[in-house]
Amino acid sequence: MMKLAPSIYTADFARLGEQVKAAEAAGADWMHLDVMDGMFVPNITFGPAVCEAVRRSTSLPCEVHLMVQAPERFFQDYKAAGMQRVIVHVEACPHLYSTIEALRKLDLEVGITLNPLTPLSALEEALPMVDLVLIMSVEPGFGGQAYIPTATQRIRRAREMLNAINPNAELEVDGGVNVHTIRAVRDAGASIAVVGSAVYSANHSVAEGIAALRKAIGDGL
Ligand code: DX5
Ligand code: ZN
Repeated sequence: MMKLAPSIYTADFARLGEQVKAAEAAGADWMHLDVMDGMFVPNITFGPAVCEAVRRSTSLPCEVHLMVQAPERFFQDYKAAGMQRVIVHVEACPHLYSTIEALRKLDLEVGITLNPLTPLSALEEALPMVDLVLIMSVEPGFGGQAYIPTATQRIRRAREMLNAINPNAELEVDGGVNVHTIRAVRDAGASIAVVGSAVYSANHSVAEGIAALRKAIGDGL
């Protein structure tokens, strides 16, 4: 079964705990928390306090996607907030070896990601050291964007690289994953999909969103 990781970015923050519980009840596998600093990406979202509140609202494991400059400044805070995995952008980590070591020292699972046009070769040397690669299929910083079609080939190539270098690592995709795109994402080799506006939307309930995604990949519960 493909894992689903709802992103709370487009959830209703006025009732965030409820929204998180609804995702868990509907069969989500992880919660994906998008931290943005207004510098690495144009928007600002939330920090460790909200992540800790989400952690208290669910028994699902939580991953934090740090779209921030110098993410290593915050690893202790996200560990304290109860995050299980931290995903950093290689574009924000000039000292990637030390950054990964710092996450390991805190016993945090290590995810690395890159913007849609950053060459996959930027990941290559780090692949043996990580637990997860996240392929961005939108430009980071916003929810509800259209899936970038060329991402499918990147997912395939990333899976081939991982199969050769670190076959146990997870391959995750983030951005524009919905009922129309999720099958191609799964067939290209992704084992987990971040789903934001496909789950949290005014047009349907959380349960309907997740059920529709499962149906689209033939994983009906
Ligand atoms: C974008 C975030 C994504 C986004 C996904 O910068 O990293 O996680 O919230 O939202 P959708 O699924 O609506 O593209
Ligand atoms: Zn994200």
